[in-house]
Amino acid sequence: MFEIKEMNLYKTTNRFLNNYNHLKKSLKREPTIEEMSDIDQLHYNGIEAVNEAIFKTNINKNSLVLDIGSGIGGPARYITSKTNSTVYAIEIQKELNYISKKLTFNYKLNTFIHHIFADILTFNFKELKFDSIVSWLALYHIPDRTKLLKNLYKLLNVDGHVYVEDFYLKKNLSSEEKINLSKKFHANHLVNFKSYQNELINNKFQILEFTDMSENWTKFTKNRLDKFKKNYDRNIQINDKVTTDNVLSFYELAFKLLSNEVIGGIKYVAKKK
Ligand SMILES: C[S@@+](CC[C@H](N)C(=O)[O-])C[C@H]1O[C@@H](n2cnc3c(N)ncnc32)[C@H](O)[C@@H]1O
Repeated sequence: MFEIKEMNLYKTTNRFLNNYNHLKKSLKREPTIEEMSDIDQLHYNGIEAVNEAIFKTNINKNSLVLDIGSGIGGPARYITSKTNSTVYAIEIQKELNYISKKLTFNYKLNTFIHHIFADILTFNFKELKFDSIVSWLALYHIPDRTKLLKNLYKLLNVDGHVYVEDFYLKKNLSSEEKINLSKKFHANHLVNFKSYQNELINNKFQILEFTDMSENWTKFTKNRLDKFKKNYDRNIQINDKVTTDNVLSFYELAFKLLSNEVIGGIKYVAKKK
């Protein structure tokens, strides 16, 4: 398995705080959680997707929520600020977890959000059980799907819900293409649409919704790429050329993989009966 840092998206992580400080300076005040979303929501359709997760998994002030692969904490902060729920946000990259903690502290949400630097496959939650488990674009990174689903099932309360956005495989790949996808996209578990569903069913989840997001995400990644190219010079001023080029090549890759139908997107809601 390749290091996750092989992904251009994660090569220069100091850009997140640079972008935050730049926004703060230009607004001459702390950006609102909503204004931060272009910076801290590392998935598609920003807070719209997080609002959907809140609604579909019934998150409220009494909920205990687990966010898997929480990135720099954007979804966790948005969920808590909207609902007053308590969120455990688990992230395998130390630097990203550090940035999460810093931002969560700035927004005075640290009593509601517990940032954990760990691997979801091995972290011991002891007796903790959750009402909702949410995850954006993280599960395809994780190699052992059966172990992952067994862990998630155990961590959910009965009648608890999961809301996941993830990738699936759209075409058969040569071994060279597979290696490339594993290196550049850190893809460690990609199966086709039907197999993805079967894996959930075989691990006792009841699927409530299962939506193909490929078209939507192709458009999103195209717009994101166009916007980033348009603002290329400005981006270089805020960060530097190496950082900007890393992000640009990652945005190009994501659009290419989706538009060439190598991978597709899935959004689903499932329940523990
Ligand atoms: C594309 S990012 C999305 C971040 C966040 N979900 C968001 O939408 O803003 C996926 C994240 O999953 C994390 N991740 C990958 N494997 C993980 C694991 N085994 N345990 C915890 N986090 C993991 C990565 O480090 C990365 O930050």
